[in-house]
Amino acid sequence: MSEVKKPVFQPNAEFSKTARVKNMSEYQALQDEAINDYEGFWKRFAEEKINWIEPFTTTLDESKFPFVKWFDGGKLNVTTQCIDRHLDTRGDKTAIIFEGDRGDTQTITYSELSKNVNKFANLLKEDFGVKKGDRVVIYMPMIPEVAYAMLACARIGAIHSIVFGGFSAEALKDRIIDADAKVVITADGAFRKNKPYMLKTVVDAALEGDTPVKKVLVIERNKEEITWVKGRDFSYAELIKDKSEKCEAEIMDSEDPLFLLYTSGSTGKPKGVQHNTAGYILWAQMTMEWVFDVKENDTYWCTADVGWITGHTYIVYGPLAMGATTVMFEGVPTYPDAGRPWKMVQEHKITQFYTAPTAIRVLHKMGEDEPKKYDLSSLKVLGTVGEPIDPPAWKWYYEEVGNSKCSIVDTYWQTETGGHIISPLPGATPIKPGCATLPVPGIIAEILDPVTGKKVGLGESGYMCITRPWPSMIRGVWGDEERFVKSYFSDVKKDGKAVYFTGDGAKYDEDGYITITGRTDDVINVSGHRMGTAEVEAAINKDNNVAEVAVVGKPHEIKGEGIFAYIVLKSSVENEDAERKSINSIIKKEIGSIALCDDIVFAPGLPKTRSGKIMRRILRSIAKGEAITQDISTLEDPSIVAKIEAMVNG
Ligand code: PRX
Repeated sequence: MSEVKKPVFQPNAEFSKTARVKNMSEYQALQDEAINDYEGFWKRFAEEKINWIEPFTTTLDESKFPFVKWFDGGKLNVTTQCIDRHLDTRGDKTAIIFEGDRGDTQTITYSELSKNVNKFANLLKEDFGVKKGDRVVIYMPMIPEVAYAMLACARIGAIHSIVFGGFSAEALKDRIIDADAKVVITADGAFRKNKPYMLKTVVDAALEGDTPVKKVLVIERNKEEITWVKGRDFSYAELIKDKSEKCEAEIMDSEDPLFLLYTSGSTGKPKGVQHNTAGYILWAQMTMEWVFDVKENDTYWCTADVGWITGHTYIVYGPLAMGATTVMFEGVPTYPDAGRPWKMVQEHKITQFYTAPTAIRVLHKMGEDEPKKYDLSSLKVLGTVGEPIDPPAWKWYYEEVGNSKCSIVDTYWQTETGGHIISPLPGATPIKPGCATLPVPGIIAEILDPVTGKKVGLGESGYMCITRPWPSMIRGVWGDEERFVKSYFSDVKKDGKAVYFTGDGAKYDEDGYITITGRTDDVINVSGHRMGTAEVEAAINKDNNVAEVAVVGKPHEIKGEGIFAYIVLKSSVENEDAERKSINSIIKKEIGSIALCDDIVFAPGLPKTRSGKIMRRILRSIAKGEAITQDISTLEDPSIVAKIEAMVNG
């Protein structure tokens, strides 16, 4: 890499001195090592980092690409890596600091974590008959038991599938059925803004009718009254009482599945992204060490929900694998006021703080001066994830939260990548606002021209691809091999060979830094969460008055992108606002509040090609208020464009 020319923010020199990667020469040496001897690089780190029960025999088997095997022959258990191996040296160290919505706190040491996880694992085995390979759905709030539940599954080789607590009963049911899960772990509910909210009622609704679920475990958090279905629902507090604190870890193969996590694509139903054991935990740990540079006495806080990949890798698995102290927060960042996170940073002496641009924008807007009220001097590294961060939010985060002394690691990755792919390293990489910078060492990420498959030049844009398999890559779409290949390995070829395409566009700047420019497909990024247009459209189509619908993303001040729906009604309705409400309530029922539409326009028709394809690009331009530059002469009815434009933009 040539020297970075533009005005940039250099890493804090004091911090760099003790960082794991101290400067760009060290960064480059690591990346060169990977480029020159790819398998040797990964073999070295897998041997160094993982406590193997039996060593692996092959580093990478690509013979059935894109179905690859990493560290074949190796035997391990992720909970041994995350818990047991720390017990001798870190038994009394705090593993998890929990802070509840109402300010209640709990600290859980590694030895307590071990006991809790083992008891939970014994419960799943003995009372619920859960065995290796069984799927367990977890629908939980942010309380320590969610980490116990995940790790208990991993302990006995069961595959967990966490469904974000904001998803509706219908969405939960779909995921339960797709994974053929026989157990659901949930809670009565939890607290948000000092009020109880319920989850068990959603589980009850999801389990109406035919489902594979035989047993439901309920953790009592808010102690609100709930319905207990006899023979199906069981109290965690009751069952856990007499369980042994010892539970042998199931011996897992490197490529045994660890978890499923459903995520949206551009077409059809959400996909069950599968991650396997060894490669996932290795990269979770390595990126914790490199990207957050967490040290032995640090206290690290990631504000994500465990229902998303960020919560999996960077609240639970990554921090625990490296023996760190990880903070888990039940509440919302703006309650009781927009100083809450900064109060928590002060109280827990947080050293690394990791959140989404949406949260930064909200905290900036609602509490610009709040950071000044607290002692934030413990902070060393700030992180962002999930969506591009805009310069004003970046500047405020850097100056007011980080006191212009903390690197901001703008981490680019996806559910499918398991861990960070492109990110600054805080002691090494000079950073630029809104720029994910460079591949993390070991990741061969390149921006390719989608037509020629060649790497694009400086200043040029293309498709963000990963051209070699990496250990924590998605191993499959649950139950659908064809969709796995089609979704990720069929758009771009390099030297005639299919490569992994992220679905994002990206651009190299004049220094070779990578800026992610956004999705190239029909995926909308709402508050850093992926929503498929097809999913939202399928929900809207359930409204009896709807004849046709197309949804697109529209820039949103806080959420990054909001959802904009163009709807053609079967016949006009008397009260359009009531119809809008009814459409949003269907979305809430089918998917959840995260997919509610910000704008609903009742259009006279949709711009379609003569073959019937909806031209979403035109609809996106209209939603943004942009001039239409596309050729519309080939549309079935070109006049529709002006009509919709007049309705939306006047
Ligand atoms: O479009 C990219 C965006 O989020 C997508 C991945 O979403 P998901 O699988 O839900 O995972 C989110 C947490 C990793 C990507 O395809 N994205 C993620 N990180 C960034 C980003 N866009 C810009 N900058 C980022 N740092």
